[in-house]
Amino acid sequence: MNQKGGVGKTTSTVNISAALAASGAKVCVVDLDPQAHATMHLGVNLGDDAKSVYDVLTGKCKIADVRHQVGDNLWLIPAHLDMVGAELELASAIGREFILRDALAEENFSVDYLFIDCPPSLGLFTLNALTAVQDVFVPLQPHYFSLHGFARLVETLEAVKRLNKSLRLSGILLCMFDGTKLADEVSQSIVEFFNQRDNLPAICREAVIFETKIRKNIRLAEAPSHGTPIFGYDSNCCGAEDYRNLAVEIAAKFVTAVPVP
Ligand SMILES: Nc1ncnc2c1ncn2[C@@H]1O[C@H](COP(=O)(O)OP(=O)(O)OP(=O)(O)O)[C@@H](O)[C@H]1O
Ligand SMILES: [Mg+2]
Repeated sequence: MNQKGGVGKTTSTVNISAALAASGAKVCVVDLDPQAHATMHLGVNLGDDAKSVYDVLTGKCKIADVRHQVGDNLWLIPAHLDMVGAELELASAIGREFILRDALAEENFSVDYLFIDCPPSLGLFTLNALTAVQDVFVPLQPHYFSLHGFARLVETLEAVKRLNKSLRLSGILLCMFDGTKLADEVSQSIVEFFNQRDNLPAICREAVIFETKIRKNIRLAEAPSHGTPIFGYDSNCCGAEDYRNLAVEIAAKFVTAVPVP
């Protein structure tokens, strides 16, 4: 998540998921953004009347009814452009922050990783993501203003922690790294910020800054229009290499929970 737009949330969700799936893990992506970018990036174009995560959130169907298999070991719960406005519609529903969590809990389809792509806002869709997960990853662009707004993001996490005790900010990912002096300086200051553990709000104290930085690579920006993760478009480019390395790092640092028998 990051309420800032265009920082690499969708690109990272799709490509980390695809890299983990290629390594043999079962992975599901939930697209919670009405822009439906992750859905399109994974090659799914829903027709006007097709069901999406929105129908799950409004109780019209179950996760299993909208799940698409989009690759080996890879599934998608798609979003629909029609979801714009749905947040308002949900606003008066009882237990509105828990609808996705409960819908996922009802499923007996188990995966090793479930990634949720959040919209660039701290609204009800993002709250539904935050009650459903344990780990929050925040992509940042190494720009001067990258941590601007971070305090609000943390406030939101702290508020949701009252509803979801296991919530924690656990990964910071530097995206669109262009190797300039500015990017180096900003990433250095981000590292310093997160290394001063005692000054950090409790909810961020376990956060790791991923060693793998995602370099700026035009191939990553081209792949969505081909409806495939980077590995189906240009598997040898540096963007593919970065996301493969990141997936290895994530698999090592975030051992998936053992399912309850
Ligand atoms: N490493 C990269 N190199 C070059 N282009 C990138 C890279 N990562 C993402 N992009 C491009 O930058 C744009 C924004 O990325 P992305 O859609 O992943 O951000 P986002 O945080 O999901 O945006 P939004 O807030 O709108 O959901 C997209 O056009 C994407 O293709
Ligand atoms: Mg996005």
